[in-house]
Amino acid sequence: MEGGSGYSDVLVGLQYGDEGKAKIVDILADQYDIIARFNGGANAGHTVDTPHGCARLMQVPSGAFHPGKVLYIGSGCVVNIEKLAAEIAALSAQGADLDGRLFISHRCVVVQPIHILADRAQGQDIGTTGNGIGPCYADLAARMRRGVRTTVQLRDMLADEDYAINLMQANSDSNGFHVTLDESTEAAWVKLLASTRSAWKVVRKFVSEDDLFLSGKVANGARVLFEGAQSVMLDVVQGDQPFVTSSHTGPAYAYVGGDLPCKFHRKSIGILKAVVSRVGAGPFAAELGGARSSRYCADAATNGIGRDEERERINVDALFASGDDFDVGMGLRVLTGEYGTGSGRPRRIGLLDLPQIRHAVARHGIDELFINKCDCLTYFSKTPKRVVPVVAEYHAGPAGLRPVIAEYPAFPPLDIHSRPHTIPASLEELLRSIEQSVGCPIVGIGVGPGRADNISFTPSPVH
Ligand code: IMP
Repeated sequence: MEGGSGYSDVLVGLQYGDEGKAKIVDILADQYDIIARFNGGANAGHTVDTPHGCARLMQVPSGAFHPGKVLYIGSGCVVNIEKLAAEIAALSAQGADLDGRLFISHRCVVVQPIHILADRAQGQDIGTTGNGIGPCYADLAARMRRGVRTTVQLRDMLADEDYAINLMQANSDSNGFHVTLDESTEAAWVKLLASTRSAWKVVRKFVSEDDLFLSGKVANGARVLFEGAQSVMLDVVQGDQPFVTSSHTGPAYAYVGGDLPCKFHRKSIGILKAVVSRVGAGPFAAELGGARSSRYCADAATNGIGRDEERERINVDALFASGDDFDVGMGLRVLTGEYGTGSGRPRRIGLLDLPQIRHAVARHGIDELFINKCDCLTYFSKTPKRVVPVVAEYHAGPAGLRPVIAEYPAFPPLDIHSRPHTIPASLEELLRSIEQSVGCPIVGIGVGPGRADNISFTPSPVH
């Protein structure tokens, strides 16, 4: 940490989640002292490459594998105590010791067993991750129901564990979700509650009662990187209700849920990916194959069809050769591995949507962009037209908004092992026109899954 005051940057996804935020946090981590989360909970699934293989992070910030970095979970996050204890143990087994460097705000709200039961029973229409996130935030806003407190914060667990567990029991008995506990749910509930107690023994020592934890560190020179979970299109207010998550996902919320005064803000970094995906239901204007794709993916999720089943039954080259949007979308999913990190659900696939990014950049004041999965655009060279299509504009027509597609010459596979990396001219042309179209400089691109598969990009002046 340096002398004088520090600063904070906020990194968020600009699409529908799963843009590869964790990979970029991992690359940038060396430039910061603290990596912090400010929203969401175990619904986030961040995957990072580690010397011990792939690690899946849900609630712990993505800097876990950088030993000198402090990790902070801010009060805007909801905490599943049981899953967090398991995550801490798994990380420790993979070589990431969190003792003395993970701090969790005592104001974080606890995801109660009833929230998980309610979400599993009622979240299908939205396609939630089933982690109880929505019911937990709903109970936070409700505060009290029929004389019973609906929210338990970690500080309640610290003050009196029995009292907090009794609250969870009472909130389950008179819950606001119309979940009636039959014998099997009752049994599941009792099990969940018991495991909460034993997991608390692991989590407890990481909880910080210092509301000024981050402020103090930054005032003394610390540099903070806030890592957004979910993405701006899933924001509870700015996204398309009801197909959203239950927290605020934009960079401004880092200064509420991240427990730091906004005077320390330096810049906002937006992450996107060149082949777009969305899990769960909801509008997705640039989806390849439109309603057919969303129906197919919903059915596949219900019937347990995921990566292996698709790979087995699909001839990828034939799909691309057909040139049909639905087929190309499916081919891209298989080749680019677009399946839910936690659930394995096939993700819906779409084109890069420049008006959507332009809006997100303007609405959230994004200062610089990082575009992942640029190497994946090469698969468009397998289509009959051999072009990379992107949505350049939407025009109003009699049947609603009509996408106007711009086409760029497809390029051959990138040699991600060559050093220095070179970018094909048509990819460079595409990136330059993205900068101009969305009004934001691109500072780097991802060209492969590994930590080293990134190219820094010299932004051009944007107008
Ligand atoms: P919830 O956050 O579990 O309530 O789910 C609400 C919606 O957000 C669903 O469409 C989920 O698939 C989506 N969602 C939640 N977390 C993530 C994420 O980390 N990546 C992508 N989608 C997510």
